[in-house]
Amino acid sequence: MTNTAIIGLQWGDEGKGKIVDFLANDFDAVVRFQGGNNAGHTIKVANNTYKLSLLPSGIIAGKLCIIGSGVVLDPVALFNEINKVQQSGIEVSKNNLLIASNCPLILSLHRSLDILLEEQKGNKKIGTTGRGIGPAYEDKVGRRALLISDLFCHATTMERLQNLVFYHNLIRSGLNVEPIKIDAIIQELEPIKQQLLSFVESPFEIAKILANKKVLFEGAQGALLDISYGTYPFVTSSNTMAGQIALGSCLGVDSLHKTLGILKAYTTRVGSGPFPSELNNDIGEFLRQEGAEFGTVTGRNRRCGWFDVALVKQAIQLCSVKEVALTKLDVLDKLPIIKIVIGYKINGKQYDYLPQNPQLWQNIEPIYQQFEGWQSSTKGLTSFNNLPKQAINYLKAIESLCSVKISIISTGPSRNETIIC
Ligand code: GDP
Ligand code: IMO
Ligand code: MG
Repeated sequence: MTNTAIIGLQWGDEGKGKIVDFLANDFDAVVRFQGGNNAGHTIKVANNTYKLSLLPSGIIAGKLCIIGSGVVLDPVALFNEINKVQQSGIEVSKNNLLIASNCPLILSLHRSLDILLEEQKGNKKIGTTGRGIGPAYEDKVGRRALLISDLFCHATTMERLQNLVFYHNLIRSGLNVEPIKIDAIIQELEPIKQQLLSFVESPFEIAKILANKKVLFEGAQGALLDISYGTYPFVTSSNTMAGQIALGSCLGVDSLHKTLGILKAYTTRVGSGPFPSELNNDIGEFLRQEGAEFGTVTGRNRRCGWFDVALVKQAIQLCSVKEVALTKLDVLDKLPIIKIVIGYKINGKQYDYLPQNPQLWQNIEPIYQQFEGWQSSTKGLTSFNNLPKQAINYLKAIESLCSVKISIISTGPSRNETIIC
């Protein structure tokens, strides 16, 4: 039994959802272990397109899906998503979705604070998704979050909310905005409370349910958005790397047997922060249009640039990745020349990783290696042998520079546009 993690090795949107859906049939259950509805995973099967944020992508393949303890859960967003998915004919019930009872809830006060704090930052914004993710994790660590299980008892809910609302109102008064009333939060939860509780299960029961199952762990965001190792402060508020699985999935440290990294054939990022290989030119625009690089959650333009080995190697090492799926190869089809960043020169010194010191981000000179493009279509190919030789050269270079094996190549958004190597 090989429990496997799917971890994005760049700044998110690598195509994790597509690969989870592609692999799901070999597994019994799919588990989300961090993040929240800041994630946006697009899955295409035949003529249907599904956009998921909180529901594990295994829901499309009909697998048991778990929202684990490491997730922060916005119940309003969850039920909007469940309704949409159900409208497209996918069943969602306690038979295929369980939510760990110790997930902290994202409430309207978290969304509000996320947006207020971004507004305060002027031109120094993180560029968050505005979904309340950061404030919700802050409240979790600050020991004042409302957990889903608190909703089982009115007295506990009131006690937690008093503490939570008191804290938020201190901040809000400093920001000169109107205070929150506990009644408003109660009213927000009342219509969905019973339905939410019907999906809830103790993390210890979930551990028992998963004990003899083959589990696929679905990462959200990407390794470079990790709160500890990412490009801080331009990161999300959870640990996005494979190590988080041990704490966020309701299972123990020995439950993960293999990590499959997901790499896009080039690099994208949404929001602010350093991006050494960014292309603010026609090629960047070409990648955006050709790859449809617009955020699933916020609709923002994704910033685009060349594949960056230095960044990816950090993530590969920290997530113990030996094998990767490389996505969106087809997006590069028309380019005559393709570049890869292999390191940086910063103030005369050479680096094979991106230093965390923001002062050094001002003067990064990327060091490039250049490849001949293939200028023919790889779209929808399902056999490695049909790839043009220049594309194979590019893939071999990535394998060699990153010291990984590419075991899956994605040549289009649909489930069947995939090569197993
Ligand atoms: P995730 O957040 O990592 O799951 O990735 P997203 O779903 O946010 O973004 C990836 C986008 O690329 C989605 O619109 C996918 O449908 C699309 N996609 C995935 N793989 C491929 C591929 O190989 N080629 C192309 N052209 N699109 C892809
Ligand atoms: P998936 O799972 C890309 C980015 C935001 C912002 C930063 C912090 O689809 O790969 P947050 O709302 O989390 O506090 O925002 O993180 N971000 C993502 N970028 N893909 C994602 O998820 C992201 N989730 C958060 O754009 O820069
Ligand atoms: Mg995404």
